[in-house]
Amino acid sequence: MINVVDSNKQYFYCINYKDNQKDLCELEMKAIFGFIPDNQLFVTTIIIDPSRSVFIKYRIEVNYQENSLESLESKVLSDQLYMDDYKIIYLKNDFDITYEERLNAMRKIGFAIEGKFSLANPKVELALTKINGSWILGYYKKNDNSWVNRKQKPHNYSFALDVWLAKVLINIAVENDFTKKIVDPCCGIGTVLIEGYSIGANIKGYDINPTVVNQTKQNLKFFGFNANVECKNISDIDKYYDVAIIDLPYGKFIKSHSNNRNDVIKISRNISKRVIFISMTNINEIVRKFGFSVTNTCKLEKRSKFSRFITLCE
Ligand SMILES: C[S@@+](CC[C@H](N)C(=O)[O-])C[C@H]1O[C@@H](n2cnc3c(N)ncnc32)[C@H](O)[C@@H]1O
Repeated sequence: MINVVDSNKQYFYCINYKDNQKDLCELEMKAIFGFIPDNQLFVTTIIIDPSRSVFIKYRIEVNYQENSLESLESKVLSDQLYMDDYKIIYLKNDFDITYEERLNAMRKIGFAIEGKFSLANPKVELALTKINGSWILGYYKKNDNSWVNRKQKPHNYSFALDVWLAKVLINIAVENDFTKKIVDPCCGIGTVLIEGYSIGANIKGYDINPTVVNQTKQNLKFFGFNANVECKNISDIDKYYDVAIIDLPYGKFIKSHSNNRNDVIKISRNISKRVIFISMTNINEIVRKFGFSVTNTCKLEKRSKFSRFITLCE
């Protein structure tokens, strides 16, 4: 998965999130695009696979941008645009377009493109849309939402992170540097590792519990990933990483380690430059006590389950 900046091309991205995900979405967008979009539909020269983020719904490459449908049609005609097995869809962005106008626009542009149209098995998907008065035509790429399939794994625990959250955390850790060395020193059954491997991140996992480590190995194998995970206490990790993602242990499920949350925070200072903590309570004071500076915190409110705090530290 690569991110390329092509200054000759512009791309529209459409993002969407639930109310309680807004802060996390902003953190992720800042990490992968370098800015926080001021709108759910935004334009940039950065190319990101929409499936990299749970929040990106689709991407449109701006191949044509014209002030009127007529001028878009004549541009397509004069270019003798040829596509085989293509499909064209209309995306509703400006709301002043009636159903009939949309149908008419699709017909006009569809007739202007040479080649075979394929509804069932298109090789190319084009999007036609009107955004802030401009008519846009370009390659369309939708999020494949394949992360949803990773909710089902051979081993799962109630203490495991939600898959979507693990994916967001990985994106925040990687930013746009896939060579970054990432560690999950309390990896549990491997939710973060699986999301890391699925986008090609350079990540390693550890956990103190041998049963859990075995199950993580089986989970990773199930998805076709190498089991880069070891049974180790965080205090015995002798490597240094660029980023650590630490879903802190808590007493409820891990009785024997109920008191070691603060030890884990303290030791994490020795294994990584940056740390992303996930905790059940606000830990800003504690992490500062251990010499971290907090660069960002957000609270993920959950209606049915307990809330989680995400704390970014350096
Ligand atoms: C909240 S769970 C992590 C869950 C994980 N994020 C997942 O989605 O499966 C915390 C994990 O920390 C591990 N743990 C507790 N103390 C540890 C230590 N000192 N070193 C390494 N792992 C530890 C526990 O065995 C437990 O699996």
